[in-house]
Amino acid sequence: SGPSVLANRTILITAGPTREPIDAVRFIANRSSGRMGFAIAAAAAMAGARVTLIAGPSALPTPAGVTRVDVQTALEMHSATLSRAEAADIFVAAAAVADYRVAEPATGKVKKTDAPPSLQLTPNPDIVRDVAAMPDAPFTLGFAAETDDLIHHAQGKLNAKGLDMIAANRVGDGLGFEVDDNQLEVIWNGGGATLGPMPKRQLATALIKLLGEHWHAAR
Ligand code: PMT
Repeated sequence: SGPSVLANRTILITAGPTREPIDAVRFIANRSSGRMGFAIAAAAAMAGARVTLIAGPSALPTPAGVTRVDVQTALEMHSATLSRAEAADIFVAAAAVADYRVAEPATGKVKKTDAPPSLQLTPNPDIVRDVAAMPDAPFTLGFAAETDDLIHHAQGKLNAKGLDMIAANRVGDGLGFEVDDNQLEVIWNGGGATLGPMPKRQLATALIKLLGEHWHAAR
């Protein structure tokens, strides 16, 4: 095979969950392990790209040749990503970002009471939408995690968020989050491809190849 089209290109990737604090010891999060996004970072580095991985809390090791920036909350992931997006050729949003955060997290540990407590939530900024809306936006691949109507909802997110491509995965019933294997329906304006089911590492290699081809064609 010839030289990779992604050689020396700059790729920015988000991965993992975010943690939204409730008080000093508690948080709201989700089941993302970071595996999909970390595998994409590893595959991009293998293809010769300069890779920065903005990682929510994950126990996974940093892939070889990847620069890792650790964050906790969606707001931290948003600013860490936006400040690096202008320098990127490609942005991949594989993180499972919390749509909401607790409006006013307590600074200490909240005491147990007899009455059931309530939490006031407020929306988080949409990282991938904000990157795609930048004047000099990188080529942007988003993800969609759906339990039903996969293609329909993914198509909606592709359009609503102004993305170049979207990779949709079915979640629930032992698919998508946390597990090793995944299947992706990749959609762009005018086409699509099914990748997998296969282990996330292989899937990431196939996705990076497809992404390189589309980025190259769009230049
Ligand atoms: O980490 P693993 O355990 O390996 O699991 C992988 C995964 C299932 C988490 C991954 O493949 C995946 O689908 N990630 C996106 C999950 C998700 O949050 O999807 P969504 O449909 O809620 O969001 C759509 C897109 O908008 C995603 O690209 C997401 O990163 C992005 N987003 C969402 C909200 C927000 N505030 N900012 C964002 O950038």
